[in-house]
Amino acid sequence: MFKRWMAFAGLILLVLTLGLAGCGGNQSPAAKVLKVGAEATFPPFEFQEENSKEYVGFDVDIMKAIGKQMGMEVQIVNTGFDGLIPALEGSQIDAIASAMTITDERAKKVNFSKPYYKSGLSIVVKSDNVTINNFKELEGKRIAVQIGTTGAEAVKKIKDAKVREYNSASEAYLELKADGADAVVNDLPVNEYYLAKGGSKDAKLVGEVLNAEEYGIAVAKKDTELAGKINKALDEIKQNGEYAKIYEQWFGKKPQ
Ligand code: ARG
Repeated sequence: MFKRWMAFAGLILLVLTLGLAGCGGNQSPAAKVLKVGAEATFPPFEFQEENSKEYVGFDVDIMKAIGKQMGMEVQIVNTGFDGLIPALEGSQIDAIASAMTITDERAKKVNFSKPYYKSGLSIVVKSDNVTINNFKELEGKRIAVQIGTTGAEAVKKIKDAKVREYNSASEAYLELKADGADAVVNDLPVNEYYLAKGGSKDAKLVGEVLNAEEYGIAVAKKDTELAGKINKALDEIKQNGEYAKIYEQWFGKKPQ
């Protein structure tokens, strides 16, 4: 009787073990995945190196460090910039880390983390351009911007400006190069990176930096718990030195 009972228990144990193994597939206990939306042609924040499928950049590293603190694996979902907030609202992604400026307008739709990067807008023109030296002199000019950005918003307020909107900042720079636009208005660190990586052969930065902008990580309005966890992780990586390490790696200087 006892033997039969043991055999039965053994059988149950076997079934349970097989069942559990089946659930996990052949992966190790899966870390929860955090789907992070980014418009990933925006170096040095989110982009792919030539001939690589991997997403890299300041935001990507910051999100990975945040994910590590939260025990989550980060997966970047490349999405058009103007499609990011809708994707968050539609729950296709869990968060946005896309050099996204914290604005009142956006804050009506999403929950922003504490700021994680200080930025601003600046102007790039062709090297031989002598007529545009500041934002005032953009009046009546053809200006290329990325769609849905604070840069696009800002130039729409300029008198008689002919605003050309592109899906990516790189297309805006191409338009300038091809003389289809007189200027590009975009985030300063992205303009600087573009010039440093070869753009300065025929283009330059002019004028003052407009708007003190700050980037935030966005989550859905209802996701207050996740928002809290992200803020906590952000504090932790600032305290443990990880944030400064990543900052220096991408910008070659200590965080401001
Ligand atoms: N900071 C600007 C904004 O929030 C531009 C961000 C564009 N980001 C990107 N990954 N393309 O509007």
